[in-house]
Amino acid sequence: ASIKLAVVVGSNRKDSINRKLANALVKLAGDRVEVSLVKIDDLPMYNMDLEGNRPDAVNRFTAEVAACDAVLLVTPEHNRSIPAVLKNAIDWGSKPMDKNVWKGKATAITGTSPGAIGTAVGQQHLRQIMGILGGLVMGGEAYIAFKPDLISDDGSIAIDDTRAFLQAYIDNFINVAEKLSA
Ligand code: FNR
Repeated sequence: ASIKLAVVVGSNRKDSINRKLANALVKLAGDRVEVSLVKIDDLPMYNMDLEGNRPDAVNRFTAEVAACDAVLLVTPEHNRSIPAVLKNAIDWGSKPMDKNVWKGKATAITGTSPGAIGTAVGQQHLRQIMGILGGLVMGGEAYIAFKPDLISDDGSIAIDDTRAFLQAYIDNFINVAEKLSA
């Protein structure tokens, strides 16, 4: 695999539908990427007082993202924005400014929710945040309205149209990431 991909799920819920979607996307990516599933649920709330002596979980998180070429964010929408747990992780990764782990990385944003517009508004906020941090956010859109039959027991996308759409989406992202890291 030529690309190291950090996959960050914006949910700390055990049965997260976004984690299921992320795992299905990893399957679609296949062996073109080396995947790092980066945990965020153990990060303390950002506090500038902790700078200078960052908690181990924070150092583990930033090291894992920094080691990757590209970032795939798969997030729920909370109140038409991104969940606080994801914003918290992004904030840790953004500081100190000269070690901002998001800068210059190929970045793809997607997400799912049971709602009809499948996280579209939350993704828009996230696109803005990642752009400000210097992430090279891929164009295009992937708003996934979650249905119970979307993902099969083996963890793959069970609806043909959606699988084809997401295959093209992930293939395009890997192409972009390869170009940017060439
Ligand atoms: C939600 N949910 C939600 N869904 C949506 O489509 N738009 C929204 O703005 C919100 N807002 C929202 C706020 C809060 C505080 C919660 C807890 C939930 C519902 C959300 O999509 C649903 O809980 C998903 O299952 C969350 O994804 P995970 O955690 O399963 O990946």
